[in-house]
Amino acid sequence: MRLSSGLALILGSTLPMLVSPLPNAAKRAVPRPNASRADAVREVFQTSWKAYYDHAFPHDSLRPISNTFADDRNGWSVTSVDTLTTAILMEETEIVNQILEYIPKIDFTTTKAANQGISVFETTIRYLGGLISGYDLLKGPMKHLKTKPEEVEALLKQAESLADSLSIAFDTPSGVPDGVIYLNPEPRLSGADRNSIAGFGTLVLEWTRLSDLTGNPKYAKLSQRAQEYMLRPTGSPEPFPGLVGHQVSTKDGKFLDSNGGWGGGTDSFYEYLIKMYLYDPKEFGEYKDRWILAADSTMEFLASHPTSREDLTFLSGYSGKTTYPSSGHLASFAGGSFILGGIVLNQDKYTSFGLELAESYYETYYQTASGVGPEGFRWVDSAQELSADNAAPPDDQAEFYDKAGFWATSRGYILRPETMESLYYAYRATGDPKYQNMAWLGFQHIERACRAGSGYAHLRDVTKEDGGGHGDFMQSFWLAETLKYLYLIFAPDSIVQVQGQGAFNGFVFNTEAHPVQVRR
Ligand SMILES: *[C@@H]1O[C@H](CO)[C@@H](O)[C@H](O)[C@H]1NC(C)=O
Repeated sequence: MRLSSGLALILGSTLPMLVSPLPNAAKRAVPRPNASRADAVREVFQTSWKAYYDHAFPHDSLRPISNTFADDRNGWSVTSVDTLTTAILMEETEIVNQILEYIPKIDFTTTKAANQGISVFETTIRYLGGLISGYDLLKGPMKHLKTKPEEVEALLKQAESLADSLSIAFDTPSGVPDGVIYLNPEPRLSGADRNSIAGFGTLVLEWTRLSDLTGNPKYAKLSQRAQEYMLRPTGSPEPFPGLVGHQVSTKDGKFLDSNGGWGGGTDSFYEYLIKMYLYDPKEFGEYKDRWILAADSTMEFLASHPTSREDLTFLSGYSGKTTYPSSGHLASFAGGSFILGGIVLNQDKYTSFGLELAESYYETYYQTASGVGPEGFRWVDSAQELSADNAAPPDDQAEFYDKAGFWATSRGYILRPETMESLYYAYRATGDPKYQNMAWLGFQHIERACRAGSGYAHLRDVTKEDGGGHGDFMQSFWLAETLKYLYLIFAPDSIVQVQGQGAFNGFVFNTEAHPVQVRR
């Protein structure tokens, strides 16, 4: 029914929200900061950094219970580099300067230990992402922070030095990079005959940005050439349109299997398809087309509802065309990816599906005794018969499954961000305070359970109220990602924040939550 023009005028003048040209506008509200919650996250950040700085700096990672350290990321001070952009966004200038002062001293041309493997993926997302994003922020929207200009310039020089060291990885017959290289005693590849799609499909944003910042096209070319094998897959067939296999040959770039999903090893390949389109919609249209194919197939073939909780939606994995109801903490970023896709493509169906995923994966926190979600879990797919692939829960999990819609198969929690990350996108897209409240509850439970020794530590069993004891380790992504997304959910609006449908997004977060300035 059409409104008469008179009525439309009245509605238009009294309820301007209802006549916004954006679809779904009535459901969206403006996100609002909450200073007291933002401060609570900041305090945890300060405690975590101080613990690292006092007991582990400049080594890679803090062991917060023994107050010792690990050099698990080649000894280039990964926690420092990974923490930089969170400290910048929180305007923790003293911490920013502690990190900036150290970065020029890092030698990215070698490792202290001989014959130590360097993960091209981890090094790109944590170190290269942190350096480039720090540079983007301190030359851009955060340039008012009091820092030394030469230390800011050093971020880009060090990013270049690091990428030059890593570049040898692409020196394979196909140009699909080796996932592991060595620099000491001399530069060489691991010689592996394959790499995973997340392993080399999550480089292109950082390497392309580095080319744009330095004017040297080498980095963009190397990463984009490798990407083409995944955009136009050959070899083992994609079981569903846009949903590809897991491993790709470094010899000829062909897919070696047809297994996958949105979990570890494949996840961030899909994430970067839509993020590259946000980075530059003119150049990366093909990436967007592939994301749409994968997203539509995911909604059609992988969305799965547990028999005991049909209201929940989890994403199944697949082996060929066979899907199986198993997922985990890593896959809970998918809600955020769908919401971002909905924002960027102005398509509510992706946003709605993303919100459904964000709320469902949050349930894996809400239902456990500790209030924190497990590393891995299963359910029974309501659309399939019971079978070996779609098995009933073990007896001791049946009661929990009835209530919760899943049971934990891997019970640890290693300070991961993905569930809070998706709630961040959900809140920014809708402004609905329920997502802020979910994140706040999640934060309080993580904080209580993981607080250990001088900092925050892994949990052994989230199904126990106290988290089942601690593992003596504080991951750099705790500071880079988990606390950043939690802080940003409660922080004031800014150019760096994700903006809802119809608004300009000036930054795109790499998979380690380092915001990269989009191409203008
Ligand atoms: C802000 O956070 C405080 C502390 O959790 C809470 O009591 C308050 O309700 C929040 N305000 C809004 C508007 O959500």
